Amino acid sequence: MRLWLAPLDGITNFQFRNCLCRHVGGIDNFITPFLPVQEKSKLNVRKWKDLWPRNNACRPTTPQLMGNNPAHFLDTLNELHQEYGYTSFNWNIGCPVDQVVRRTRGCGVMPHPDIVESVVRAVTEQTPYHFSLKMRLGLHDKSESLQILDKMQDYPLEYIVIHPRLGEQLYEGVPDLDAFQECLNHTAHRVVYSGDVWTVGDYERLQERFPSVQDWMLGRPILCNPFLAEEIKEMDTGDVKERFLRYYQHYADELLETRKEKSTLFILKELWHYYASFAGIDASELKTLLRINDFSPFFALSLEYLR
Ligand SMILES: Cc1cc2nc3c(=O)[nH]c(=O)nc-3n(C[C@H](O)[C@H](O)[C@H](O)COP(=O)(O)O)c2cc1C
Repeated sequence: MRLWLAPLDGITNFQFRNCLCRHVGGIDNFITPFLPVQEKSKLNVRKWKDLWPRNNACRPTTPQLMGNNPAHFLDTLNELHQEYGYTSFNWNIGCPVDQVVRRTRGCGVMPHPDIVESVVRAVTEQTPYHFSLKMRLGLHDKSESLQILDKMQDYPLEYIVIHPRLGEQLYEGVPDLDAFQECLNHTAHRVVYSGDVWTVGDYERLQERFPSVQDWMLGRPILCNPFLAEEIKEMDTGDVKERFLRYYQHYADELLETRKEKSTLFILKELWHYYASFAGIDASELKTLLRINDFSPFFALSLEYLR
């Protein structure tokens, strides 16, 4: 069994991933948040700090890309290989954000199996790289994933990550496990499950229901409980409160090294929606914290909540 860190745009940046690797065990694979593929004349991958090898202590880390044009994929993958040596890439066809979908990117690609096939054909036939997909059940209808999976049978994908919700659902409702089973029935590819594995119990129930799945991706649940991967693997977690504090302080320091206090504050505030349950604070305590607009008092109160 292997555990993966899900890409979370705006959250699982390289500083986050490095802190996680340094302070927490149990995660075997890392996928970065998405970056846009572009044609060669517009590409400047040297600006993509999130992929600089010296910024990436967690191995293996796979760059995730977004787009819909085969030529742009070839240009971008070749450039990333030449500059940084990456040999495996993931394609995001699951992002449900409206302005992404409207440009036929992310989940907006899912109603167009021909676009999926044209990109996958180009990459698998014209490059030596490993290539994988990360998708949902569809944008509007779960038949979309089945059509794509049927088409993908002919191509040597490395794996397919499936988050069993529709794009139009965003993160509402619960993952559709019957539909996930249907997906499994439509593919011989290695499938990575992604979605709502909040506890060890959730993992055990899912593993029992889908015994052929060996790969499990954790996103928001790792934010709520960074030690979840260790718990799933039955590792000795020790004093998690103490360890969380060190992890949190280290992460804030890392952010402050490369960002202004305002931007660090913005990121930490976002995370506190997830940290609140770990810290054991109630809604009004969280509200008090999130109302603070200066970094120093915010950080001081957040440390108090964690102690
Ligand atoms: C804030 C946020 C950002 C996300 N960014 C990405 C992304 O960049 N690429 C991607 O493939 N999925 C992205 N996702 C989807 C997650 O990778 C994951 O599939 C989804 O959150 C369900 O898993 P979870 O319940 O373990 O969080 C994002 C989800 C959230 C909540």
